[in-house]
Amino acid sequence: MTRRRRIYEGKAKVLFEGPEPGTLVQYFKDDASAFNNQKKGVITGKGVLNNRISEYLMSRLSEIGVPTHFVRRLNMREQLVREVEIIPIEVVVRNVAAGSLSKRFGIPEGTPLPRSIIEYYYKSDELNDPMVSEEHITAFGWAAPADLDDMVALSLRVNDYLSGLFLGNGLRLVDFKLEFGRLWENDEMRIVLADEISPDNCRLWDVKTNEKLDKDRFRQDLGKVEEAYQEVARRLGILPEG
Ligand code: C5P
Repeated sequence: MTRRRRIYEGKAKVLFEGPEPGTLVQYFKDDASAFNNQKKGVITGKGVLNNRISEYLMSRLSEIGVPTHFVRRLNMREQLVREVEIIPIEVVVRNVAAGSLSKRFGIPEGTPLPRSIIEYYYKSDELNDPMVSEEHITAFGWAAPADLDDMVALSLRVNDYLSGLFLGNGLRLVDFKLEFGRLWENDEMRIVLADEISPDNCRLWDVKTNEKLDKDRFRQDLGKVEEAYQEVARRLGILPEG
């Protein structure tokens, strides 16, 4: 068996060279980290669940016309994706106060926000992913103004669609993080959704009980982390190898 070339290893995923030019294989690990790697652990089965959940959500988004890097799931832990140039900005969309927003502004967790709020963070482990403004993003050339416009428009569409999809399954989409990449086709560039969408990068609360069914269970040592990810998959009507 030939060993595949490892392109990049992150905290929760590994990217390998794909079978055809312009493709990559995205491998989902069980490793979990929080607070910029200060807290580390393993959530057994997380990789399998996130691979399946992200496949499902990216496929639904693709059906409504949101361009994504996702091609198809290959097996329990791997999916085929298009190779993109990752834009070094994390886009966070918030519907309800939680996490760093609650802390920064002293707004109690669970307070509905008057409208959805978009924030940007510069992807840099050394700098601890600092929050940045549109001015920083365009002045430092991380994204062109037109690219940023596309990222915002896509983020709002994703928020509208996923909020409804989760609500229909008894889950509140409190907030989430997206990443985007540049994809070239026939000398034309377009911005596409990249990375993953899973309970690792979304806050999902049970609509009735406000029970947390996402990575906050790991961050806050609430226990039953794998069970929470499993419950999200169950509510979406998908099983690890369904
Ligand atoms: O910590 P904070 O409240 O800023 O997180 C907002 C949202 O972005 C949460 O859903 C969290 O899971 C996600 N996030 C992420 N990766 C980061 C930071 C935040 O997926 N590096």
